[in-house]
Amino acid sequence: MERSPLTMMIFVGILVGGAQAASFRFLNNCTSTLWVATLAGAGTASLPRTGFELGSGASASLKAPPAWSGRFWARTGCAGGSPGSFKCATGDCGTGKIECGGAAGSPPATLVEVTLGTGGGADFYDVSLVDGFNVPVSVAPRRRGGGCRAASCPADVNAACPSELQVVGSDGTTVVACKSACDAIGDPVFCCTGEYGGAAACRPTVYSEVFKRACPLAYSYAFDDASSTFTCAAAATATAGYLVTFCP
Ligand SMILES: *[C@@H]1O[C@H](CO)[C@@H](O)[C@H](O)[C@H]1NC(C)=O
Repeated sequence: MERSPLTMMIFVGILVGGAQAASFRFLNNCTSTLWVATLAGAGTASLPRTGFELGSGASASLKAPPAWSGRFWARTGCAGGSPGSFKCATGDCGTGKIECGGAAGSPPATLVEVTLGTGGGADFYDVSLVDGFNVPVSVAPRRRGGGCRAASCPADVNAACPSELQVVGSDGTTVVACKSACDAIGDPVFCCTGEYGGAAACRPTVYSEVFKRACPLAYSYAFDDASSTFTCAAAATATAGYLVTFCP
């Protein structure tokens, strides 16, 4: 059969511009079980799973559609015997179930933020401590070259967390998470609101500097863009994607 030029154009268009889904592989390199959560950004579809258990040493992969954007985080200290009673010590999404189903996590939690490019556009990704910290994480492109580098917060920020930002676990002593100064104190100077809104007025603080010292390659406050946003040419094949490692 002869293909018309229009058919060919559509066919080539699909090959070049369409269906270049990226995959995300999640690896739990921590010593305890984690419950991973995924949340799609406005206007993009949910990933096949919005929450799942990942034992120590285990990994799992999820396919994301082209142009997907959203965030990932880990929940810790989760338990729940009866239906609807699932609850986590950190990062809980409040659904009472392992699946977060479109609900955001309660801070503090270390966030991985991703925006996938399309049609030759770049992907953007970062690790953010703007909503605080719970577990170390890195996000690394699974391809070489093109200046693609890993964004990460590999340090245990809980160990460096100032007492006024600490979240203490049920044992009454272990620091299980570290709040952002905005959450803990609520002052506009820490939240980058009011007269501190905007990139020019919002500056690092003693608290954001604790985060930055521990994790130079992660967002430590809302306008910490210069050293914290990473970009990589959009995935060229369906198998390309990102590796998200907890406790890298
Ligand atoms: C897992 O964690 C150990 C330290 O506990 C580290 O040496 C190793 O590089 C990590 N592995 C990965 C794949 O990140």
